[in-house]
Formats: sequence, C-alpha cells, structure tokens
Amino acid sequence: MGIIAPSILSADFTRLGEELINVEKAGADWIHIDVMDGQFVPNITYGPIIVEACKRVSTLKLDVHLMIETPDLMIPEFARAGADYISVHAEACPHLHRSLQLIRSLDVKAGVALNPGTPLSSIEWIIDQLDFVLIMSVNPGFGGQNFIRSSIEKISALSRLLAEKNSSAIIQVDGGVNQKTIHEIHKAGATSFVAGSAIFNTPDYRQTIQALRQAM
Ligand code: DX5
Ligand code: ZN
Repeated sequence: MGIIAPSILSADFTRLGEELINVEKAGADWIHIDVMDGQFVPNITYGPIIVEACKRVSTLKLDVHLMIETPDLMIPEFARAGADYISVHAEACPHLHRSLQLIRSLDVKAGVALNPGTPLSSIEWIIDQLDFVLIMSVNPGFGGQNFIRSSIEKISALSRLLAEKNSSAIIQVDGGVNQKTIHEIHKAGATSFVAGSAIFNTPDYRQTIQALRQAM
C-alpha cells in the first residue's frame, strides 16, 4: 500500500490544526512540510516552530522537505521540533554524505530530494545512507503546478538503480500528484506520494485520499 503524504503548503493556515486533524481522520499516512528559504527556491514558508506545532496536533509521521541552502545548520532544530523524516536537496549539499549522516545521527530518517534537472548519478555513491529519495516532479517552490512527464522515466531508472544496489530506500514523488498522474507514478516504482493541491483544494479529504489510493 502506498504512503499518502498531504503537503500542508496548500492547507488553510488560518485553521492549520483543524486541517491536520481532518487529513489524519481522512486516512493520510504522513504530513509533508515544505520548508523554503527564499534563496534555494523563490518562495518563503515556515520553519521549526510550525513543525513543532504540527507535532502537537498530529500523530502522523512528519516528513520535512528542506528546500533551503546550508541545511546542515538547521537540521538539528528540525529534529528537535519533531521531524521523523528529513530530506535535503542534493543541489544544496556539497557534502551530501555528511548531511545524511547528520540526519541519521539524530534518529531521523534521511532522504535526498532531486530537482527535475538533477541526474540520479548525484546519489549513486551515497545510496547506502538513504532511507528515501524524493523525486521532484515540478520545479520546487510552489504548489499546484503541472506534473513534469519525464519524471516517470526518472522514477523507473531510480527503481532499477536502487534494486541494483540492493537498497530498500523508499521512492517519494512530489509535485503534480493527483488522481490522473498517480497510477503511472506508482507503476514506475514510487510508494510515497506527496499531494498538496490535489487534497487540500477538495471539499472531502477522506473521499479524495480514497480516490488517490484507488487510482494507484
Ligand atoms: C513544491 C513542494 C510540494 C508542493 C506540491 O515545491 O515541494 O510539496 O506542496 O504541491 P502540489 O501537490 O499541489 O503539486
Ligand atoms: Zn515538498
């Protein structure tokens, strides 16, 4: 069964607590938290205090996607705030192996996120340090963008690479995931699905999450 991770980027922030409770009741598996710094991506969102607030309301795993420069400086803060999963961008980490070791040393699951233009070869030699890989299927920074088609082939190639290296790392896909795209994404080998607008922009979260699972 796939992991459905609603991205709170598309939630109603005037009622974040309620939104978190509602997606949990609706059958979500993880909560995806998009951290943006206005440097690595052209948008600014939230930091550890929001992660800490989510932790108080939700019993789901908190999956923190760091779209920030020099993430090593902030990783301990996000771990302290209650992150269960942390992904860093390969493009922002000159010492990727060290960043992953840092995450794991804090008892948090470690992932690497790859922008659409970043080759899989950037993770080839650190696969043994990975609990998950996040394939960005849009350019990071905003919700509600269209799925980039070439991501399907990239996910398939990643599945093969992980199998070759005997890795059990989870393949997560983020950006433009909806009832139309989820089948192909799943077929290509992904098992963790981030969805922002496809969930929060609908009236009935339970029905939407069920429909996403059925469409898989
Ligand atoms: C984009 C974020 C995504 C975003 C996805 O930079 O990483 O998590 O919330 O939004 P949708 O699902 O609307 O494409
Ligand atoms: Zn994300």
